[in-house]
Amino acid sequence: MAGSNYQPKSKLGQWIEYRLPIFSLIDGLFGSYPTPKNLNYWWSFGSLAGIALVVQIITGIVLAMHYTPDTSLAFASTEHIMRNVNYGWLMRYVHANGASMFFIIVYVHIFRGLYYGSYKSPREILWMLGVVILLLMMATAFMGYVLPWGQMSFWGATVITNLFGAVPVVGDSIVAWLWGGFSVDNATLHRFFSLHYLLPFVIVGVVIMHIWALHQHGSNNPLGIDVKGPQDTVPFTPYYTAKDLYGFAVFFLVFAYFVFYNPNFLGHPDNYIPANPLVTPAHIVPEWYYLPFYAILRAITFDIGIPGTDIVFITAKFAGVILMFASILILLVLPWLDTSKVRSAKFRPIYKQLYWLLVIDVFVLGYVGAKPPEGILPTVGLIATAYYFIHFLVIMPILGKKEKPLPLPESIANPVVKSAE
Ligand code: HEM
Repeated sequence: MAGSNYQPKSKLGQWIEYRLPIFSLIDGLFGSYPTPKNLNYWWSFGSLAGIALVVQIITGIVLAMHYTPDTSLAFASTEHIMRNVNYGWLMRYVHANGASMFFIIVYVHIFRGLYYGSYKSPREILWMLGVVILLLMMATAFMGYVLPWGQMSFWGATVITNLFGAVPVVGDSIVAWLWGGFSVDNATLHRFFSLHYLLPFVIVGVVIMHIWALHQHGSNNPLGIDVKGPQDTVPFTPYYTAKDLYGFAVFFLVFAYFVFYNPNFLGHPDNYIPANPLVTPAHIVPEWYYLPFYAILRAITFDIGIPGTDIVFITAKFAGVILMFASILILLVLPWLDTSKVRSAKFRPIYKQLYWLLVIDVFVLGYVGAKPPEGILPTVGLIATAYYFIHFLVIMPILGKKEKPLPLPESIANPVVKSAE
């Protein structure tokens, strides 16, 4: 981690520092820490994600003081929080909308990395730790959504846990093991609560490693070129503390809009109906942040085997499950799939356009995931899924070799590119 020679001025500070070098640690993290001087607001999303994580943990701990993870009481205890507990409604709405905010922030954070090539050497492990965080976040949010024990909680949990049943031979045993019984029931709710409480702290641990890896080589920057010397950096404080604080203020305004004016906009009304295993909702949809993955899951509508025979190698369901997990796991190897020497899309004219095509593709997947699979939508879902994988598996390796990047500036401090003569 970037070292710091910071020495506290007060006698007490020096006494503590000598025994526990906490002040120089803080200075190395947020104080004199040299940061590229050209970072834009997209670089505020990392610290924003940290804030969102803290908000989720604090509100979650308070909610857990009043929530009961028993199928007979979970729904009622959630309503009790909303109606009787002082500011319980606020805690719940901040926590529920906070999950959505957290995902928006992290998705922007990931797409920032994709645009500026932040996953490339020497930041591969930093990026991979990010992918681990994303997986943990998805698991945490999925289990959290089950806790209020509404209709979408129950049926969402039933659909998603049943997916593991598609695994050949051991599928049914895995599902029974996940449930702790023969359906989504009390044992399932209890373990989901336990894990939903635990995983955020695991995320904190991985975030610490994420920041550790970040500090090993420092931040990338919009130009995607390496820092050449002190002329290219500024101390984190006051420059980026001030910039990040502005970002926090804007974020909390957006967050407050949802919490105070439109708290159920991002949720599903069916989750205000108590879970009923005997009544399946007309249309089971996951939370918005899973929709692109849900579309990938449903993309394959046919069994894969030898046509004209009964021989099936992979059922449609299992193919969907594999693709859904692959769509995230593929990010782990992205640093090696991208063969370009240049990091930032600013200097990669073709990649820049294909990047935006990927963004559109993910939105299309999200749309398909939100709608019932009718009419043209399954075909659109299949094409968009295929394109998603083509982007990473075909375009990234080939484009990196074929594309002619624009001339790179000499340094961050001297960003004007000389004419090519
Ligand atoms: C709890 C979630 C996360 C937190 C708290 C977090 C925190 C941070 C922070 C504070 C930074 C430095 C500021 C910045 O560059 O924005 C950062 C950088 C970075 N993060 Fe994350 N992150 C999270 C999730 C992720 C995920 C899911 C990925 C990718 C899959 C990721 C990839 C990266 C990369 C590549 C950088 C370096 C960016 C650069 O220097 O250009 N992070 N993260």
